[in-house]
Amino acid sequence: MEFFEVVAKRYSHKASFDYDKKIPEEDLRKIVEAGMAAPSAGNSQSPEFIIITDEKILERISIITQNAILWTAPAMIAVVTRPRVREVLDITTECLICDFAVATENMLLAATALGYCCGWMDGPFTDPQVREKVEELLGIPDDRMLILVVPIGYPLQEGPRREKKPFEQRASWNRYAVERG
Ligand SMILES: Cc1cc2nc3c(=O)[nH]c(=O)nc-3n(C[C@H](O)[C@H](O)[C@H](O)COP(=O)(O)O)c2cc1C
Repeated sequence: MEFFEVVAKRYSHKASFDYDKKIPEEDLRKIVEAGMAAPSAGNSQSPEFIIITDEKILERISIITQNAILWTAPAMIAVVTRPRVREVLDITTECLICDFAVATENMLLAATALGYCCGWMDGPFTDPQVREKVEELLGIPDDRMLILVVPIGYPLQEGPRREKKPFEQRASWNRYAVERG
């Protein structure tokens, strides 16, 4: 798929995935390698990734998070960073956030380019109790922090595409002249 087609096609799939259609390991590895190729502050390469395909672990994550979108995903990629990210937003923290965000976007684009649907799921892990349970399940050490998971699969149902604002309402040339809605 051509790059700009991939960018246009990517969307957050929030409907059911086809759980029975599994994703080959080499595709999951490729997707994570796309995340690893992303820029990071000072080339720190701070985000780390856990590829989850074990059905029992997938099920446990769905039970712990009680999240309907995660229930049907045949694979997930957990994105992990350093605990400091929840502290005051100093420059180091800001860089850590940017690092995992750009790595995740690379993976969303890579998954889309390979023909899968995917999403960005961090809501459940903002509850420390949920996050800590899933961190324990995945064996994430104390000096690391689970930020989000990317559910990946083929769609069982088509999900809605969200509208993006027109160019002029988000961007301008040379000086700030964004048409605010
Ligand atoms: C920082 C961030 C956090 C997000 N958290 C969630 C989430 O917890 N659950 C969810 O379903 N989608 C989540 N999303 C996806 C957004 O809802 C989605 O990107 C937005 O509605 C635009 O839709 P699109 O991705 O289809 O273009 C998140 C996206 C970002 C960038």
